[in-house]
Amino acid sequence: MIKKFCVDQIDVYINGEKLLDHLSFSVQPGEMLGIIGPNGAGKSTLLKVILGVIKPQHGTVEITHNDRRPVIGYVPQARAIDEEMPIQTWDFISLGLPHRLRPWLTKRDRAVIKETMELTDTSHLAKQPIGKLSGGEKQRVFLAQALVRNPDVLLLDESTANLDPKAQEEMASLVHELCVQQNISTLFISHDIHLVSKYSHRVLYLTRGHYTVGSAEEIIDNANLDVLYQLQHVNGMAQTAVETMRYGG
Ligand SMILES: Nc1ncnc2c1ncn2[C@@H]1O[C@H](COP(=O)(O)OP(=O)(O)OP(=O)(O)O)[C@@H](O)[C@H]1O
Ligand SMILES: [Mg+2]
Repeated sequence: MIKKFCVDQIDVYINGEKLLDHLSFSVQPGEMLGIIGPNGAGKSTLLKVILGVIKPQHGTVEITHNDRRPVIGYVPQARAIDEEMPIQTWDFISLGLPHRLRPWLTKRDRAVIKETMELTDTSHLAKQPIGKLSGGEKQRVFLAQALVRNPDVLLLDESTANLDPKAQEEMASLVHELCVQQNISTLFISHDIHLVSKYSHRVLYLTRGHYTVGSAEEIIDNANLDVLYQLQHVNGMAQTAVETMRYGG
């Protein structure tokens, strides 16, 4: 279980504009933090900062484990897979296992892959080439690949985006369950406010240069997000609206 997952006073500038401004929050073990916000707000950028791919101009991300290096599972927003990629789904998922320096899979590895594929409803795809799967099937396989490493932290960037409504609900519910049962600290980015409010323990609402974090009720029910999203493009008014609801600071 992780000891500490803390994002502290992060500043990120993109092309001279401040995208993330003194962003601070922490995530508990087993907590699912939903992340919402308009296109271009910096949601994907935030995950890349947490992964260490983007270095913030200011601030720190601290993720520590009680007795080993923390393991992070990540499913990026857009993942291009060549349709002709000659790799079967089973092998693709196995690439997510840690310690892949050895060329063979142990009995334990195989058991973990099998279990994860059952969990993510991908068992029937095992022998299929990954490139030929549908968008929704690929999303489930990507989740399985992130889960086989038994992560302490799970970063999901619009993992439900290509799924039909029933599959979206199933995936969000599965992620919630895993997060609680296996004590995984999960960041779940989605534009589906219904899903986020139903399955997240808390919500981070991000707009360019501003943010607020709180319970789903505080963020979603008490604030008129429709208005906020629309006002994003109306200079000045959006600023006022976001400032008004900002309290997470
Ligand atoms: N490597 C980069 N170089 C230049 N600009 C970038 C880079 N990465 C992100 N940006 C810009 O930073 C802003 C935030 O991008 P980001 O992908 O984090 O947004 P997002 O909140 O995930 O949006 P969406 O909901 O569309 O996925 C965008 O304006 C984007 O163009
Ligand atoms: Mg994004």
